Amino acid sequence: MSYLRGTSHKLLPPPLWGRDGEGGAWKFHSLEPPSRFARETREATSPTRGEVTSGTAVPNINALICGIIFLITAFLALLPAARAEAPFPPAQAIVAHHAMVVSQEKRATHIGLEVLHRGGNAVDAAVAVAFALAVTHPQAGNLGGGGFMLVRLADGTATAIDYRETAPRATTRDMFLDRNGEYDPKKSRDSGLATGVPGTVAGLALALEQYGSGRFKLSDLIAPAIALAREGILVEDELADSLPRAAPRLARFPASAKIFLKPDGAALAPGDRLVQPDLARTLETIARDGTRAFYQGEIAQKIVDSVGNAGGILSREDLQDYRALERVPLRGSYRGYEVICVPPPSSGGVHLIEMLNILEGYALEGLGARSPAALHLMIEAMKRAYADRAQFLGDADQVGVPVERLISKSHAAGLRATIDPEHATPALALRPDTSRAHEGDHTTHFSVIDRFGNAVANTYTLNFNYGLGLVADGTGILLNNELDDFSAKPGAPNAFGLVGGEANAPGPGKRPLSSMSPTIVLADGKPWLITGSPGGSRIITIVLQVILDVIDFHQNLAQAVSAPRVHDQWLPDVVAAEAGFSEDTIRQLEALGHTIHVGGAWGSANSILVAPEAITGAADPRTRGAAAEGE
Ligand code: DON
Repeated sequence: MSYLRGTSHKLLPPPLWGRDGEGGAWKFHSLEPPSRFARETREATSPTRGEVTSGTAVPNINALICGIIFLITAFLALLPAARAEAPFPPAQAIVAHHAMVVSQEKRATHIGLEVLHRGGNAVDAAVAVAFALAVTHPQAGNLGGGGFMLVRLADGTATAIDYRETAPRATTRDMFLDRNGEYDPKKSRDSGLATGVPGTVAGLALALEQYGSGRFKLSDLIAPAIALAREGILVEDELADSLPRAAPRLARFPASAKIFLKPDGAALAPGDRLVQPDLARTLETIARDGTRAFYQGEIAQKIVDSVGNAGGILSREDLQDYRALERVPLRGSYRGYEVICVPPPSSGGVHLIEMLNILEGYALEGLGARSPAALHLMIEAMKRAYADRAQFLGDADQVGVPVERLISKSHAAGLRATIDPEHATPALALRPDTSRAHEGDHTTHFSVIDRFGNAVANTYTLNFNYGLGLVADGTGILLNNELDDFSAKPGAPNAFGLVGGEANAPGPGKRPLSSMSPTIVLADGKPWLITGSPGGSRIITIVLQVILDVIDFHQNLAQAVSAPRVHDQWLPDVVAAEAGFSEDTIRQLEALGHTIHVGGAWGSANSILVAPEAITGAADPRTRGAAAEGE
């Protein structure tokens, strides 16, 4: 297996506990070879020895029959084994004592740790990581997109920085429909109409201004990104994996093709260098002139021109008016822990708290991690939360969203009462609608904790990998296709199969509903778990499962981040399950009435767990090149 290709920080044949050179960080390698995936597979598929040996004591003809049965059984057993094995290794936990950064790309992680090492706080580091990812992880790290940064300071202050894109002022309700009034996904995913006003530069600057340590200027934190853009980076890991898939989208725009493709149209390949001189100049301009350079200057004009040429309606005024906002985070509680999340226009916090509230009413621990009974309850909770999402959620600045009711314990109790522990509830019995499935790609999440106890969870995105695939000519900035997150027409699913209603209809200045869920869980009033993930509509259920794994099932962080995931988003009425569950578990869930689609792997829950003894970081093993580093 090529499992160990760049999945985590260091890929040595691991000592269980060791240090990276003199004075390096202590690292604890997962104590569970063989992996739990392998274990589950064996348990599910091996005929027991008792059955086999009992055959040897009977007359020969019986022995022959038993032998044949055994061979057939053994053959059949291999089939589910292939289905049950996870296509990635378990995460390696990195242990440190003062500070930790976990991101989806190793250079960016290292830059963040350097900032912490030089006395910066978690917000300083997060800003540096985010600018670096815009260079080293162009699939999702960005200047031309948006996201959410959740900050929890050691003094107890918590804030959610909302730098989600906004719809241009010329946006209309029917912008993504064709002339017959039917939803046209090409408009919302593949044209300039899909591009919202980018929020990242404003959001990072706001975070630094309000919550940085004051030891670093914006230009200091952008400097490493400038160097990487100018000198270039080796194409490897996820960048190498994603470029060939994205090549057709990038090839549509010469300004993008000249950066990411070779003259013959092939994508840059492993071993090539990705050099981004225009992006380096753009970053230098932002470092010198601040956010104004992005939202008002020449860069703004180039963005407007490129989006316009791609059929979009973004204007100079839209860029000039953009503001990142500070919002009051949502707070929930789960079995004595406090859960801090981002509010609308992300749906993440609302539905994470809603699902936790539902599940708090069950003794999950006794059911066992990923037992069919526990999974059934989790799936039913997911289904109900996503049905609420489709009806109620949107940009709460523009439409009424009953947030308090949705995150209340009483609402959860009402929903819990509708769950049948023996049978799956058909989706349409919860609320009528129709839909279809389609899963898309990337966003990126990173987590940071500093030596002072300040924590940051940040998730940001261009929506699809490389967003619209359009680089604003001469800037190196990839632009988002985030406006596909609107519900273009009630009941018409977006790229993640999510349906929505009026609350999330397109509108001028509106922020499309997101699933991004950067989350900080407090234990005894202190940051304990810092997590989040990409994964489109699956983000919220990924975060849910990481939390349940550590709280209910007492798994360590590496186990929680690696464990196979399920996802149910109400519609379509199917449960997606990653490879890694035993065949027996799948069969039992099917017997309860669930339709299960097994396959794939999703998310990159780059997380940190803070215990009094040590800080553990775990990069998600599903994404090659993700890395945790601590000191
Ligand atoms: O904001 C959202 O919910 C989506 N635009 C996120 C897209 C995403 O996570 C794609 N990644 N897998």
